Amino acid sequence: MKARSETIRVSPHELEAFAAAAMQRVGIRGEDARLAAQILVTTDTWGVHTHGTRQLRPLLRNFPVKRLYADAVPEVVREGGAWALIDGHHGLPFVAAVRAMDVAVAKAKLVGVGYVSVMNTSHFGAAGYYTIQAALAGTIGIAMCNTDPQMAIPGARGKVLGTNPIAYAIPHKDKPIFFDIATSAVAANKVIRARNQGQTIPEGWLIDADGNPTTDPSGFPESGALLPMALHKGYGFALLVETLAGVMTGAAMARQQPSWVVGVPGNPPGFTNQGQVFIAIDADMMLSPSEFEGRVDWLADYIHEVPKAAGSERTYLPGEMEWERRERALREGIELPPDVVESLIGLAEDVGISFPFAANSEGG
Ligand SMILES: NC(=O)c1ccc[n+]([C@@H]2O[C@H](COP(=O)([O-])OP(=O)(O)OC[C@H]3O[C@@H](n4cnc5c(N)ncnc54)[C@H](O)[C@@H]3O)[C@@H](O)[C@H]2O)c1
Repeated sequence: MKARSETIRVSPHELEAFAAAAMQRVGIRGEDARLAAQILVTTDTWGVHTHGTRQLRPLLRNFPVKRLYADAVPEVVREGGAWALIDGHHGLPFVAAVRAMDVAVAKAKLVGVGYVSVMNTSHFGAAGYYTIQAALAGTIGIAMCNTDPQMAIPGARGKVLGTNPIAYAIPHKDKPIFFDIATSAVAANKVIRARNQGQTIPEGWLIDADGNPTTDPSGFPESGALLPMALHKGYGFALLVETLAGVMTGAAMARQQPSWVVGVPGNPPGFTNQGQVFIAIDADMMLSPSEFEGRVDWLADYIHEVPKAAGSERTYLPGEMEWERRERALREGIELPPDVVESLIGLAEDVGISFPFAANSEGG
């Protein structure tokens, strides 16, 4: 099918069905495929298209070359009262991540805190999804993972650490407060997307091969490196993630970590072995449920009611913009940007199914 460059509007339900069908074509069980499709499409409804269904094509390319196994089942290999280590056995990473947060929540409900890490796994998409899973179960959720190096550190010239994302979610009404970020200035996919669209990028995102600041993304990811978020501050958090998700799990660390994307030049041989950490905190056990809810409500109202800067009409809680985009997407369909459309058309070709969405589809 000919690639197109325009956006298209799709219904979340139909996008999920398409994504699940594509996954089943590489042998993924129906139940796992539907779970992963729901995670990726939820991410698209937030407007976080860098980590939604666009990721499926490169991820599925890992199955035919046996860097991921469709029949793997994640397994708890070590555990204590408040913690566990899960071996993902190189299966579909979303499944291991959801399982890990389930175990973390169950432990938190028993002893107040659950800390579960995963090894032998790969790209789990947006870290925030799993924290919302915890928050909807009534616990504060935290998630993080280490990734292959894309980011410089102060004083270094090239890639040293991964973009090592951290996310948290706090139960709040039916829409948890959630904050979900890379510890680099931006996620690598935002730079790659600008490169593919022939755009420049803001200052502060990237350095070139000599370590000089640049707004030209055309050399990345082959050369240059992302800058850490707020320089030494993002570096410090990325190193914490590397310690919890890498050092403590047995996952690959820093430059040992191959990219999860198949065929990246210079990729170390072998499996992607990311480490991921999922933490659940049962605040209701530490405060009374009504006290926790009341105090979070107070904080949320405070954030909304603070005096606004000149030209600003409102202040947002983390996650609020994403919930509003999601409501619109559920009502009107998801507007998929051209790079996502391209990726989904390529996915359909890769796995031999038809691409069911028309350019002027109204999402029906
Ligand atoms: N799995 C991986 O390997 C990997 C690696 C890096 C990033 N990621 C994902 O990439 C995604 C994007 O990361 P990013 O660093 O580009 O995120 P970003 O800089 O776009 O920040 C997004 C977060 O900031 C909050 N936010 C933005 N503006 C706000 C405002 N004015 N007030 C309050 N909150 C506000 C949003 O609600 C959201 O939680 C995340 O989902 C992350 O998990 C994944």
